[in-house]
Amino acid sequence: MGFNGSYTARQFDLSGLKGISDETLEMHFKLYEGYVKETNKLTEKIAEFLKDGRVDQEEMPAYSELTRRLGFEYNGMVLHEYYFGNMKKGSTTTDPDKGSNFLKAAETSFGSYDVWKADFVSVGKMRGVGWAICYENPANGRLSNHWITLHEVGNVSGFNPVLVMDVWEHAFLLDYKPAERPKYIEAFFSNIDWQACEQRLTAATQTSSGQQAAGSGQ
Ligand SMILES: [Fe+2]
Repeated sequence: MGFNGSYTARQFDLSGLKGISDETLEMHFKLYEGYVKETNKLTEKIAEFLKDGRVDQEEMPAYSELTRRLGFEYNGMVLHEYYFGNMKKGSTTTDPDKGSNFLKAAETSFGSYDVWKADFVSVGKMRGVGWAICYENPANGRLSNHWITLHEVGNVSGFNPVLVMDVWEHAFLLDYKPAERPKYIEAFFSNIDWQACEQRLTAATQTSSGQQAAGSGQ
């Protein structure tokens, strides 16, 4: 992988969310900027190794460690962008619009929106450090909810993140006790930007969410 320039931290205008304080957001944006910085730094360091066109045997241990860390930092950067990007201030609903493709896809995939939500919320309550992510399988438009450990373990390659919820304690510790994660999840739902989720769906889901995917088990 060549060094192809650096990432710039994106700005999100979210102050005034319900149940997630501006102090939490400020701190969280700083953490996110840290991931952007580390991703750039690691990418640059890895490019250094490749300057002579190869990675020598004696360089392998250091190169390997940097490359492993790249998975953590890179996903940390990208997942936070999805997370901040699927919240908005001033939301008046906790659920997607009737007639939205997201709702249709949830019904097709889970039988009902309520079952989809019970699954997603339960994934969010799992013990551990990580994320709850609703992915869309772009091949058949089906939704599935996944637990991601840290930032990089459990992501499904090629799947499309539609709704991303950070459940690391730093996402809510200034507002809730560690044991009060369910309250944070409830607050998160009152701030979801369902329009943003809708826009993330691929054309596959927008045309095929009403159809039953045949026998793929996915
Ligand atoms: Fe976070």
